[in-house]
Amino acid sequence: MLGGAADPDEIEFMEHNMAAAEPITSLTLRRPDDWHLHLRDGAMLAAVVADTAQHFGRAIVMPNLVPPVVTRADASAYRERILAHCIGYPKFQPLMTLYLTETTDASDVVAAAQAGIIHAVKLYPAGATTNSASGVRDFDKVRPVLDAMAEIGLPLCVHGEVTDPSVDIFDREAVFIDRVLTPLRAAVPDLKVILEHVTTADGVDFVRDAGSNMAATITTHHLFINRNHILAGGIQPHYYCLPVAKRERHRLALVAAATSGARQFFLGTDSAPHLDTDKQSACGCAGIYTAPNTLSCLAHVFEAESALHQLEAFTSLHGAAFYGLPPADDTITLVKRDEALVFPVSRATANGEVTIFDCGVPLYWEVEPRP
Ligand code: DOR
Ligand code: ZN
Repeated sequence: MLGGAADPDEIEFMEHNMAAAEPITSLTLRRPDDWHLHLRDGAMLAAVVADTAQHFGRAIVMPNLVPPVVTRADASAYRERILAHCIGYPKFQPLMTLYLTETTDASDVVAAAQAGIIHAVKLYPAGATTNSASGVRDFDKVRPVLDAMAEIGLPLCVHGEVTDPSVDIFDREAVFIDRVLTPLRAAVPDLKVILEHVTTADGVDFVRDAGSNMAATITTHHLFINRNHILAGGIQPHYYCLPVAKRERHRLALVAAATSGARQFFLGTDSAPHLDTDKQSACGCAGIYTAPNTLSCLAHVFEAESALHQLEAFTSLHGAAFYGLPPADDTITLVKRDEALVFPVSRATANGEVTIFDCGVPLYWEVEPRP
């Protein structure tokens, strides 16, 4: 069992949202945050940022641009470019991250954090995923940065997959936990670490049993798809992402963790737009674009698990607490419609279409527009 008995938050939720014995058809939550998001740059940024900014209060913005966001100055400039596309959403806050390289300067990281410009550093093992070529090969080389981060309480967001070609792609997260994460936690025990987009029961168990400075984000899509969705009945490039979805038992472990109310688990959509032409190709890119329908998808999963009362903790409370930030001071309302919602199939950009995640089931929970 991951969860606990009803706590005061849960009771408050019930009082607000449940008329006795009637099905819940309206749900008011503190405004969600997305603790792992790809916004890209240029035309793609312009096309996608509103899909997040219209629903979310804050988002941890991934730094894997080309070239990556590696310095305090890069992060400041990228933040300004994002904000320039958020005119209609003045309350949306992009929370910036730096991309850890073997030459990252610890003093620049500390200065960026202390100036409030960044909220985390992202560790990509070199070659693990999209635009990770500048990532880390020799973990000893980044130790001074990790020590400095531990000292100031700055979280490390980890892409938890080994890149060893001899390790099966479906085992890369579990092997990363043994070979990299466990030694890293032992070497820098005070470092706050987030295992990003956890995809395995092994990852869930590791995080649940770790100390209070370890957490995991869970994506929307990994709550819906297992590896059959990608590979059975024809290859489905729009379900391909990294870490790749695993067996059904792992998906069930993720659903249990997300809906459990355990404080270690919170939403990081990993919404990762790529042009359809880049995904529907002989060598298709990893990434699933979930920003437009994420909250409808999540409400569906939580309702199916009889856990709507835990949705706010997952989307709006646990992540902020882990990052040492207050929860949002405003709310959103989701309303359950009688008819299935119709989402667009794709989002248009100046360079082509980006397919929106098809979760495979009808969705009924709709976010009410911002007033
Ligand atoms: O599927 C993914 N897409 N996983 C990642 O780690 C990176 C992301 C991207 O940037 O497209
Ligand atoms: Zn990502």
